[in-house]
Amino acid sequence: RWVAVLAGGLSHEREVSLRSGRRLSAALRSVGMTVAEWDADARLLTHIEQERPDAVVVALHGGEGENGAVQAVLDMLGVPYVGTGPHACRRAWDKPTAKAELARAGLATPDWVVLPHATFRELGAQAVLDALVAKLGLPLMLKPDQGGSALGAHVVRDAAELPSAMVGALSYGDAVLVEQYVEGTEVAISVLDGPDGPEALPAVQIEAADGIYDYTARYTAGLTSYRTPADLPPEVAAAAGELAVAAHRLLGLRDISRTDAIIDRHGVPHFLEVNVSPGLTETSLLPMAVEAADRSLGEVFAGLVERAIA
Ligand code: DAL
Ligand code: MG
Repeated sequence: RWVAVLAGGLSHEREVSLRSGRRLSAALRSVGMTVAEWDADARLLTHIEQERPDAVVVALHGGEGENGAVQAVLDMLGVPYVGTGPHACRRAWDKPTAKAELARAGLATPDWVVLPHATFRELGAQAVLDALVAKLGLPLMLKPDQGGSALGAHVVRDAAELPSAMVGALSYGDAVLVEQYVEGTEVAISVLDGPDGPEALPAVQIEAADGIYDYTARYTAGLTSYRTPADLPPEVAAAAGELAVAAHRLLGLRDISRTDAIIDRHGVPHFLEVNVSPGLTETSLLPMAVEAADRSLGEVFAGLVERAIA
């Protein structure tokens, strides 16, 4: 088989994607695949049309790589690819859309409000911030409504921190997702499509050094501790796995996904978001889950390549 791994792109997560792409390519080569690494730039169409790989694996993060744009191009070209199709990508990528879908199904997700940039101009910044605290209380979690790797995300414990957190989130997009901050255990649950449908891999528990799992904590080796499988009572671990499988199914995701959740002190998992293109870097979560399941990244992705081609 020969496979093209797409990495890079123009999103804020370009560097992360290049690292994911390198690791994935090495993993696929280790199981005997021929791999080309392509940047997702203007030459992508020409590359695919002229070189016709057996399949494409999307290791892009953020922007066009995760919002369905690249997947729509791949569909148009008729080239098999690993991962979710364009419509489902769009729904998962938009955090409020994904949360609404899960909430409709009766699953827990922190209460939230979406604030488009224009709201501040129309209503006045102070009035908006006051209304937010009145509705959701404190602490709050602010993040761009679309985005990844915690870029532009801030925990706000004191109302005085709201304006700068708001500016930080808005620097990555046109709307802010404001959520109640749920205290608890942070976990990531990867889901893999198998012969019997989607299956949850062991949850990875995240313990950031100062409690803030930001971009630096994610991508600097040694800054964050991880526990796989997560230290959870069996019924709580099962509930977390069910939440991730439900997200995968409800949003129509394909092949692979990773749901990020917080387990509250009663053992209830709260859905935060689901990633259609989970990071595959040396410090990323999905590879830890794959390893804990006694599998290898190369074998898992080679299996998905075969499914895509079949
Ligand atoms: N957005 C990053 C790559 C992740 O979710 O792993
Ligand atoms: Mg994400």
